[in-house]
Amino acid sequence: MSRAGGAADLEAVRAELEAQQAELEQLLEEVTAQRNLLEQREAELLEERRRGMAAFRAIGRLVRASRDLGALARLLANVATELVRARGACIVLPCGAGMEELEVVGGGGIAEELEGRRFPAEGSISTTALRSETPRLVSGAEAAPVFAGFIEREKVERILVTAIVCADGRPGGALLVMDPQDASEDAVETLSALADQAGAGLESLRRAEEVERQRKQSRLMVAAMGRMRAGVLITDGKSVVRYANHAAAVLFGCRRASELLGQNVEDLYGADLPPTARRKIRAAALRSRWTGELLIKRRDGTLAPVHLTRVAVRNAGKVLGTVVIARDVTKEMQRQARFMESDRLALVGGLVSGVAHELNNPLGAISNFAELLLSGNLDPDSREMVETIGREARRAGEIVRNLLGFARRSETTRREVSLADIVNRTLALRVYDQRRNRIEVVLDLPPDLPEVWGDANQLQQVLLNLIVNAEQAIGQDGRITIRGRAAGKMVELVVEDTGPGIPPSALPRLFEPFYTSKPNGTGLGLAITHRIVTDHGGTIEACNVDGSGARFTVTLPRVVTNEPSQ
Ligand SMILES: Nc1ncnc2c1ncn2[C@@H]1O[C@H](COP(=O)(O)OP(=O)(O)OP(=O)(O)O)[C@@H](O)[C@H]1O
Ligand SMILES: [Mg+2]
Repeated sequence: MSRAGGAADLEAVRAELEAQQAELEQLLEEVTAQRNLLEQREAELLEERRRGMAAFRAIGRLVRASRDLGALARLLANVATELVRARGACIVLPCGAGMEELEVVGGGGIAEELEGRRFPAEGSISTTALRSETPRLVSGAEAAPVFAGFIEREKVERILVTAIVCADGRPGGALLVMDPQDASEDAVETLSALADQAGAGLESLRRAEEVERQRKQSRLMVAAMGRMRAGVLITDGKSVVRYANHAAAVLFGCRRASELLGQNVEDLYGADLPPTARRKIRAAALRSRWTGELLIKRRDGTLAPVHLTRVAVRNAGKVLGTVVIARDVTKEMQRQARFMESDRLALVGGLVSGVAHELNNPLGAISNFAELLLSGNLDPDSREMVETIGREARRAGEIVRNLLGFARRSETTRREVSLADIVNRTLALRVYDQRRNRIEVVLDLPPDLPEVWGDANQLQQVLLNLIVNAEQAIGQDGRITIRGRAAGKMVELVVEDTGPGIPPSALPRLFEPFYTSKPNGTGLGLAITHRIVTDHGGTIEACNVDGSGARFTVTLPRVVTNEPSQ
């Protein structure tokens, strides 16, 4: 080979080498660029994931911090809408004690208008979701019955349903996403994660809301019971009073309802209720209810008749306590007693007038024949016997006349009469006996005491009966007080004595015909008095005065000016 030829070859090899190196360098450059690109992409992905995590952590924090269920649900619905580029989303949660209904608690996008809607849980798409672990895509048509009208109007084609699971793994609700554009595995996965994040927070808020709702409801109930006219007591399972309303305090004679708290409701019944009856009431109440009338013991020791209902309060079959509703029936019983009294008086009146008529003639004949016999010659023994016959026949005749007076409603002449005049006229008849027995009479009759509309003779008989009874009760040494006052449309007259008072057992029977505690009494005085007063449109009541003595209170209608005479 020539020298020149060798050099040229070398040149060619070098050039070749240089070209190859340049090619390599370019390749290297390309590889580096590619690697840089990859690294950058990786960094971007990392950043994206970091941001995603941060966003989730933020949502988690928000969920935990949130106090408003609606606002949180709305926010989650909006995040879900964005995440899968959907048209809207909403969150449904069970409501009611038995989860029998579902409620849309928050919505975003087109689903915002669904907020507050409720629908039966059974058979609805969200129930399906509640029971399925993985998100499911359902067709709009499938959801149509639940959201009546909405699906058709908005032309929703698909709904992605994701279950919201509670902290303890129970189904807690569902996230419904309308028409997601991105239903990729990744997107669905992210939605699931979001729903999981939401679960615990939504559940605790829901519970808090429920507690608040119940608290409001019980506040409302307490306020309503506070205004009730009937006394209400709520006891626990051991009959201990845990709540009492104002009316119960009044009924039991307490100043404050709190005085009843902590007491056993059975200790509030009157002492005369036998233990067997107490047990019966409790057993019936705990079984279902007890209703009846009984006497309760008031704070001051007095007894009051009440109509009482006691019912059991249950939760899931278990008895938690009882509710006691008690109504004072004193007035009702008095009214009923008055009705019964009037009925009885009418009946006795009819009987008595018949018998009295039949007796009147033979008694008259007996006393006439006795007189006739006495006018003749009789030995002393016979004379004494005939005198006794005559005396007893006259006494019997007197009783019969009284009876007839009681039974027969004699013609009355009513006009304006002054009670003060009648009192004075009656006292004038009794002054001799009163002086003899050292009975003082105190009068308190104001000069402007209104006149009453009545029959003066009958009203005088009323006063005479009351005054004589008072004198007989006192016997000797005592005082009779007679007071008058205007009381609305009535005039009230009180006759009070310092005698021993009326025995409690006699109180309900005082106005009964023939009821007497006196050896020679007929027991007709107060029956006649009652008849006259009620015929006048008035009332008469008896009670005992503190300390001792009886008090009779009569009311009679006062004269109204320009009243037409009867
Ligand atoms: N002021 C009083 N204090 C205590 N008890 C009384 C008083 N007034 C009446 N009573 C009781 O009521 C009963 C009935 O009285 P009522 O006037 O009807 O008949 P009476 O007085 O017994 O007989 P009568 O009036 O026919 O002579 C009396 O027997 C007595 O027991
Ligand atoms: Mg009498």
